[in-house]
Amino acid sequence: MNEPRFPNDKGEDTWMVVQVFADEHWHAYHDIRRTVLFEARGLIGYDANHPDDRRDGHFPLLLLLENTPVGAARLDLMDDAAACVRTVAIRAECQGKGHGRMLMTGLERFASQHGVKILLVNAARDAVGFYGALGWSVVEAGGENPVLTKELRTGP
Ligand SMILES: CC(C)(COP(=O)(O)OP(=O)(O)OC[C@H]1O[C@@H](n2cnc3c(N)ncnc32)[C@H](O)[C@@H]1OP(=O)(O)O)[C@@H](O)C(=O)NCCC(=O)NCCS
Repeated sequence: MNEPRFPNDKGEDTWMVVQVFADEHWHAYHDIRRTVLFEARGLIGYDANHPDDRRDGHFPLLLLLENTPVGAARLDLMDDAAACVRTVAIRAECQGKGHGRMLMTGLERFASQHGVKILLVNAARDAVGFYGALGWSVVEAGGENPVLTKELRTGP
C-alpha cells in the first residue's frame, strides 16, 4: 500500500501518522472517534458515512503505535494556507501517555507538507490545556468550544 507516512523525529518506526486509505484504517478511524467522542460522552448518532470525511481537501489521519491505531484526527484545508483540525481523539486507555502529542506532531508535519501555515481548532473546553501544552494560543475564549490557533514553522 502506498500511504503517505510521517514517522517520528528519531526516524524510528514505533509510531507514525498516516492518511486513512485502507478499509482497516477507516474502520479504526471511525471506531476511535465513535468510542472517544461519542460513547464516552454519552452521545449517540455517530455517522460513519458523513460526507465531510471524504471531501476534497479533508484528510482523515490515524496515529499508529507499532502499527496499532491509537488516535485519530481530521485536517480540513481552508483558504489562505489555513486548515482546521477536527475530531482529535486518543483511545481512552492510551490517553495521558504522550500519544496526543505524537498525533499532533504528525498532523502538523502533514499540514506543512500541504502548504498550511496556520492551524485552527474549535476545542472541547476540557481539551484547551492540551492545546496550550502544544503551543496553541486561544483566540476566542468564550462559548462552548474555544477557538485556538497555531502558526506552523516554515522551512527545514
Ligand atoms: C485531548 C487528548 C487528545 C489528549 O491526548 P493525550 O494523549 O491524553 O495527551 P498527551 O498525553 O499527549 O499530553 C500532551 C500534553 O498535554 C497535556 N494535557 C493533555 N490533556 C490535557 C488536559 N485535558 N488539560 C491540560 N493539559 C493536558 C499533558 O499534560 C501533556 O503536557 P506535557 O507534555 O507538557 O507534560 C485526549 O486526552 C483525548 O482524546 N481526550 C478526549 C477527546 C477530546 O477531548 N478531544 C479533543 C477534542 S478538541
